[in-house]
Amino acid sequence: PEFITVSNLATIMHVPLNKIIKSMEDLGFENVRHNYILEKDNAILIADEFNFEAIVLNANTVEDIFSEPVKPGKLKPRPPVVTIMGHVDHGKTTILDYLRKSSVVEQEFGGITQHIGAFTAITPESKKQITFLDTPGHAAFLKMRERGAIVTDIVILVVAADDSVMPQTIEAIKHIKKTGVPLIVAINKCDKHGVNIDKVVGDLASHDIDVEDYGGETQTVRVSGKTGLNMDKLEEAIITLSEMLELQTEPDGVANEGWIIESKVEKGVGYVATVLVRRGTVKNGDILVAGNTYCKVRGLRDENGNSIKKAGPSSPAQVFGWKELPVGGEFVIQAKDERRARKAVSHRIAREKAIKQREEVEQINEQRSEEV
Ligand code: GTP
Ligand code: MG
Repeated sequence: PEFITVSNLATIMHVPLNKIIKSMEDLGFENVRHNYILEKDNAILIADEFNFEAIVLNANTVEDIFSEPVKPGKLKPRPPVVTIMGHVDHGKTTILDYLRKSSVVEQEFGGITQHIGAFTAITPESKKQITFLDTPGHAAFLKMRERGAIVTDIVILVVAADDSVMPQTIEAIKHIKKTGVPLIVAINKCDKHGVNIDKVVGDLASHDIDVEDYGGETQTVRVSGKTGLNMDKLEEAIITLSEMLELQTEPDGVANEGWIIESKVEKGVGYVATVLVRRGTVKNGDILVAGNTYCKVRGLRDENGNSIKKAGPSSPAQVFGWKELPVGGEFVIQAKDERRARKAVSHRIAREKAIKQREEVEQINEQRSEEV
């Protein structure tokens, strides 16, 4: 058993209850009574005081799926993953829509782009791939951020030329500085007459943005999401920066890793999750674990709903075959086989339950000590 009351411990050890309570007080426990619930580690500690060696039978089983160390010889450049931030109404959605539409190839599905939380654009000139995540306010992102995962390589800070730096622009700047994610500024709505772009640049500089216009390193691109003005320049700016960042990963020869961006139930298909692959290449038959569920990959689709055979680094792919609906923001990692995946999942569920139980026990003990 993971938990034991003080009186049960006394019975097992044939030690008078008051002696145990006394020794617990010496150990720093306060207001202990017979019905105080001890968790495993504390019970071991107290048993030790009475020269008992506690043997713990159900030690934690270790997950044998893990993130492999970097394999330098296998590193290859990978496309950048980009998100957009900025003040309300400054044009984030308009810019993303423009980039998405200009990148969508003619489709047999009547041009209906599925919303999967991410899309890939190919730059017009250099023909390089950029992955845009289009839901940064989304719960999945908050979760990833909470875990300290930096899924985004580059942030585009959108500032409307007719409105300049506003409260949420400043919030975004704070966030960017805190996380240290590289930045490109898109000064939007430059199609509008009478806008004062120099003022915007000056305002950014006064908020500690090291704009290239003043000799700094942060690229500023004057765009219009409405007319498409300089959108190609924005994409090339992303490529230039990503080359400087030397983004790399192992597309082959490692266990796949990634993140769940979104998930849903689809009629006739079952549980579908958008996975942003970070390392490796996901293909049919792979076993992926995410949170408390796993997947034997039965099929893959790109963001346009087309069936694909595999999804490599920085590619968002819809993945089917999950046993349960995976939660957005969960880390995805490949298991060698289904047995290991099942073991990892049951271990995770047990661990979660144990944490919950411990919290409950702590609450009960608190209440009981208050009753003293
Ligand atoms: P929220 O999601 O509400 O924070 O706004 P947003 O930043 O996504 O802005 P959105 O793209 O919805 O644009 C807000 C308004 O500005 C819309 O009416 C757009 O048509 C307009 N707009 C966006 N970009 C441009 C632009 O480049 N030029 C002009 N003239 N209008 C634009
Ligand atoms: Mg929007």
